[in-house]
Amino acid sequence: MPIKIDNVSVDMAANLSNAIDTVNLPRHRWYYYKEGFSPNLVNKAIDELHLGSDDLILDPFNGSGTVTLTSAIRGIPSVGVEVNPFTAFIARTKANNVEAKELEVYSKSLIEAIKKDTLSTSRWIGISTFTEHESLKKWLFNRPVADAYERGFQFLENVDSVQIKDILKLALVSSLMANANARRDGKCFKYKKGWENNGYDRESFVESLSDRLKICLEDVKTTHVESLPLIVCEDSRSFLKKDDVNTYSLCITSPPYLNTFDYTDIYRPELFMGGFIPNNEALYQLRLNTVRSHVQALWPTPTEQNFGPDYTSVMEYLLSHQEKLMCKRIPLMVQAYFEDMKDILDSIFKKMRDGGQVWIVVSTSAYAGMEIPVDTIIGHIGTVAGFTLKGIEKLRDIRKRKTKNSGNIDFLRESLIKLVKK
Ligand SMILES: C[S@@+](CC[C@H](N)C(=O)[O-])C[C@H]1O[C@@H](n2cnc3c(N)ncnc32)[C@H](O)[C@@H]1O
Repeated sequence: MPIKIDNVSVDMAANLSNAIDTVNLPRHRWYYYKEGFSPNLVNKAIDELHLGSDDLILDPFNGSGTVTLTSAIRGIPSVGVEVNPFTAFIARTKANNVEAKELEVYSKSLIEAIKKDTLSTSRWIGISTFTEHESLKKWLFNRPVADAYERGFQFLENVDSVQIKDILKLALVSSLMANANARRDGKCFKYKKGWENNGYDRESFVESLSDRLKICLEDVKTTHVESLPLIVCEDSRSFLKKDDVNTYSLCITSPPYLNTFDYTDIYRPELFMGGFIPNNEALYQLRLNTVRSHVQALWPTPTEQNFGPDYTSVMEYLLSHQEKLMCKRIPLMVQAYFEDMKDILDSIFKKMRDGGQVWIVVSTSAYAGMEIPVDTIIGHIGTVAGFTLKGIEKLRDIRKRKTKNSGNIDFLRESLIKLVKK
């Protein structure tokens, strides 16, 4: 029987599927992660399942840590697995409890150190397009911004407390990005209009940093983290196989969407300039460890293909319309993606306690003019793993970016898949 999509049970106004609410919420607002999702959804799941301090929550694609932070503030233990060291760092840092007084003292000294310094030189000159150089027509950061950031980075060496150091570092990276000449736009960076004359300099950087540190201080004072989450920076496909916990009450997550988006590419400035990866080889290795939802690395060829009737029709269509695909590896990527989802769901089934639920937010995708029902295919894979499919609820329509291969599809469906271990 085909899996049906439930259109009515979700309150669309409750904003359950995007990160927009996080910009005003204590601690969540320390770094805006566009691909994050809504704390409202995590709260809804916790309330619906009546979870408390004896329960354990898992997010195998934890990103900037919306799930772990929301659970932590409510005193519920949680584990977040995230492969990208920069995003895992955001998740860990947002949950740091520190002495407000100590943070205040270090914040003041950091600002003073940057204001006074005129000698530091960015170590990123001539590397990629990170900062101004005679060989470049465009660069992400003006020299005064990159130099001020460098001074801030050097200051971190004097900070003994790891937790304080991480908060200062997150504020530095966030201020750097606030003073960038380009902004993230889908899969790439788009230069801001008139960026050459935008005036980003040491003063604007210090202003951004002061604002951010003020917010961190305010949140540290008002919002205590009741239960420290465990943040693991690893490929969840391998982590879940070796982790021997089997008492999760809830797994709530949003995996990478099947949209050829490469998170490691779009977060390159933070990964390199934040000191999270040393070189391009390490970046490539990181790509190989991400879920196969992009074609940016030569990942292992998938072998499984038994993912249900919706998958079979998708594959038949894609293979017979290869000339309309932007890249000939797309059918293989689609197969690899569902193989990864199967791998993850098989592991998660073993980790859940009886009665435990899995909530997955995902969107459909489109290739060669066909909408791929990622939600129903994952729903099917979940049942083969042993779960009962409780339902698939539509959260919203997402406007599809137009490309020359996208055909007539204007919107994609974002939905919530609910599975139960009975
Ligand atoms: C849609 S985002 C999740 C965002 C998250 N819900 C939040 O609120 O920030 C998907 C995340 O999965 C991560 N990811 C991709 N492949 C992974 C893997 N193999 N193991 C763990 N995390 C992975 C990506 O780096 C990305 O941060």
